[in-house]
Amino acid sequence: MTTDDIRLIPASQFTIDQLTAIYNQTRVDYLVPMPMNAARLAEYVATYDVDLDHSLVAMQAGELLGVAMLGVRAGRAWVTRLGVLPNTRRTGVGRALTVGLIENATRLHLDFMMLEVIKNNTPAHQLFLSLGFHEVGELLVLRRAPLIPPPDPVIADARRLDPADALALIGRDRGTQPWTNQSESLMNVSEVSGLQMTLADNSRGWLVYQRQKFTLTRFAYKTEVGDPVTMASAFLSHLHHQFPRLDTQIENIQVRDPHLAAFFEMGYVESFRRIEMWRGSPPASLNMQFQAVS
Ligand SMILES: CC(C)(COP(=O)(O)OP(=O)(O)OC[C@H]1O[C@@H](n2cnc3c(N)ncnc32)[C@H](O)[C@@H]1OP(=O)(O)O)[C@@H](O)C(=O)NCCC(=O)NCCS
Repeated sequence: MTTDDIRLIPASQFTIDQLTAIYNQTRVDYLVPMPMNAARLAEYVATYDVDLDHSLVAMQAGELLGVAMLGVRAGRAWVTRLGVLPNTRRTGVGRALTVGLIENATRLHLDFMMLEVIKNNTPAHQLFLSLGFHEVGELLVLRRAPLIPPPDPVIADARRLDPADALALIGRDRGTQPWTNQSESLMNVSEVSGLQMTLADNSRGWLVYQRQKFTLTRFAYKTEVGDPVTMASAFLSHLHHQFPRLDTQIENIQVRDPHLAAFFEMGYVESFRRIEMWRGSPPASLNMQFQAVS
């Protein structure tokens, strides 16, 4: 068979169960196991604004061979869930799927595309490089186990924020954050709260997070005045004091993030790393956050 035989079909023509099955089959040997069930995939699609009409399933001779999904938000698109069945790899399916997503993004007038690839995933990294994606940074996936005793809360004027206030704080100008951590991702989920703090030396900042049943996750934070490590120590000490039994899992924290030392002091450990890649450059409307962290 040749690549000419590969048919790319909009993912919206498949059920969530079918998409879950093909996704799991493509990931049986993945570097970091991330199996999904249909409910989790449906939640993923909703949280990350995955556009199933512009996502693709690859078929050849009636067989499902692979899948690739496209996240779509104003001024940007995201490549995610790409996978090809292990026994079909290196026959051009992964390239056909990724080119198909790039063409679909172009149809939507989106020239700026983003993705993350786990460090040392050479096949995917090489594929993306060959299609014009370039590296822009490294991202950390961090975890803090609930068994670590919570630190004493740093003395501060701390105000808990309800969801509306928390979402108003993070604002909308965070479009060049990794996709998972953009404001839209937090706006699409429930149980979002926040902490706004002022320290004795007038340092000021905030943390917004999602509290799931057993896990704290999806952090967005900012030091408005003062030293980022001091500020992060303050908000993390309050957070973990408030929720001593919850696991914490956060993803795609930039390695150059000036708050990072406070996370490690607070017992966070690195689970794995991703490489952040872009294709094209962010439109001016998305540039604010990039300038803020670089
Ligand atoms: C990454 C993946 C989708 C590639 O799919 P594929 O169908 O094997 O890729 P293709 O045959 O279209 O190859 C396209 C390019 O990818 C790169 N590539 C693929 N496999 C490679 C390997 N084992 N080593 C180095 N480069 C490789 C090459 O640049 C290749 O181009 P070339 O054939 O001209 O050299 C596939 O390996 C996969 O499903 N991996 C597991 C899931 C995964 O890693 N998904 C990506 C998450 S970000």
